[in-house]
Amino acid sequence: MTETKQSIHGAWSSRFAFILAATGSAVGLGNIWKFPYITGENGGGAFVLVYLLCVALIGIPIMIAETMMGRRGRQSPINTMQTLARDAGADESWHYLGWLGVVTGFLILSYYSVIAGWAISYVFKSLSGSFYGDGDSVDHIAKLFDGFIGSPMQLVFWHSLFMLATMAVVVRGVQGGLEKAVRFLMPSLFALLLVMVGYAMSSGAYQQGLDFMFDPDFSKIDGHSILTAMGHAFFTLSLGMGAIMVYGSYLPKGVSIAKTSFIVAGADTAVALLAGIAIFPIVFANNLEPSSGPGLIFQTLPIAFGQMSGGLIFGTLFFILLVFAALSSSISLIEPAVAWLVENHNITRKKACVWAGLLTWLLGLGTVFSFNIWSDFKLFDRTIFNLLDYLTANLLLPIGGFFVAVFAGWIMLRQHSEEELEIGSAPAYDLWRFLVRYVSPAAVFLVFLNVVGVL
Ligand code: PFF
Repeated sequence: MTETKQSIHGAWSSRFAFILAATGSAVGLGNIWKFPYITGENGGGAFVLVYLLCVALIGIPIMIAETMMGRRGRQSPINTMQTLARDAGADESWHYLGWLGVVTGFLILSYYSVIAGWAISYVFKSLSGSFYGDGDSVDHIAKLFDGFIGSPMQLVFWHSLFMLATMAVVVRGVQGGLEKAVRFLMPSLFALLLVMVGYAMSSGAYQQGLDFMFDPDFSKIDGHSILTAMGHAFFTLSLGMGAIMVYGSYLPKGVSIAKTSFIVAGADTAVALLAGIAIFPIVFANNLEPSSGPGLIFQTLPIAFGQMSGGLIFGTLFFILLVFAALSSSISLIEPAVAWLVENHNITRKKACVWAGLLTWLLGLGTVFSFNIWSDFKLFDRTIFNLLDYLTANLLLPIGGFFVAVFAGWIMLRQHSEEELEIGSAPAYDLWRFLVRYVSPAAVFLVFLNVVGVL
C-alpha cells in the first residue's frame, strides 16, 4: 500500500529536485555565518575535525533515517511518527518527537530570520557603497556593524521583511518556485565563494587561515566545544527537527535515499569549508579576532569587498546569495508546522502560514532586542539570542536526532526500513543499521555525559 501513497502536499518532480531542495535546506546561514564564527570561538582545527567526524558518523546515518522515515510516512513529521509507530506496533506517543521538531523549528526560525535580515540589509549597504569609508577600513566596518545592530527599529524592519519572504514561498507549497530558485542559487553561491577564496589567497595571510582551520590543536577544545561541533553537525544538515523528514515525505519512490544523503551532506560540508577558507585569511590579514562572535562575517567580508576591485558588485551579489541561501533553509524550518496545521486542522495553507509566520515573527523580537535594548538581560548567563541558539542547536536538535536514530534502528521493523531504503547491497544496509542503532545514539549520549561532567 505504501508503494502508491502520496503526500497531500505534493511531491518533488524528480530525484534532482529533492537533492536541490534538501541542499537548499542544509546550506544556509549555518554554513556561511555560523560555521566560521563558532570555528573561531572554539580555536579552529580540532573543532573542525570533530565537526567533520560528527557529520560522517552521526549526521549522514541520521539524514538517511529521517528521509526514509518521511518517505514511508508521507505526512507531516507529527503524523508520520504516529503512523510509523503504529505500523511498528509501538507506542503512539512517538508522535511527540514530531512535536519537539515543530517547537525547535519555531525557535530556530525566530533568530534565523533576524540574522537573515542582517544579510538583506547588507545587500543595500553594499550597493550604496557603505563599505567604502575614509581612514581605517577595519574601524569603519566595525562601526557600521555596531551602529546597525544597535538599532532595534532597523533590525525589526529587516526581520519582518525576511519573515514575509519566507511565508510567501511556503504559501505556494514545495514545488512552486523553490526548485528553480535553488537550481540557480547553489552553483552561483559556490562560484562566488571561490572568488572570495581567490581574494583570500592574495590577502597575505592565506596560509595562516588554512593552518587555523586545518591544523588541529586538541588543547583548544573541551566538552563544550565538542557539544557545539556536534550540535552544529545537526544544525547545518537540518537534522533532528523534521525538516528533512518532511522533505522526504515529498520524495517519489525509487530514489536512492543513501546516495542523495551523501550528495547533500557533501555539498553542505564543501560550502562550509569554503566559507571558512575565504574568511579566516581576511581575519588574520586585518588583525581581527577569530573569536569575535556572530558579527564575524559582517565585520570581515565587507573589509574585503571594500578593498577588492569589483567589490561593490561582488559584495552585493554575495549578500543576495546569502539571503537566498537563508530563504531556502527558513522555509524548511516552518514546513513541518504548516504541513501539520493543514493536515489536522483542515485549514488552508495560506491561513496556516499566516499563523505560523506571526508567531515566529513575534518570537524573533526577543533576538532583535538581545542585540541592543535587552543586551544586559541574561538567563543562565546568556542573552536571549545566545540562549535560543544554545538550546536549539546544542540540545534540542541532538535530542531529536538521537530519538530519530533510536526509532529507525530499534523500533521500526527491519523489513520496513530495508524496503524503504532499497540499498542494493546487504553490507551497506547493515553498516547503516549498525550506525543508527549504536554509533549515532551512543555518540550523542556520550557527548552529553561529557558536558555535564560525568565522563
Ligand atoms: N541547515 C540550515 C543552515 O545551515 O543554515 C539551518 C537549518 C534548517 C537548521 C533547517 C535546521 C533545520 F531543520
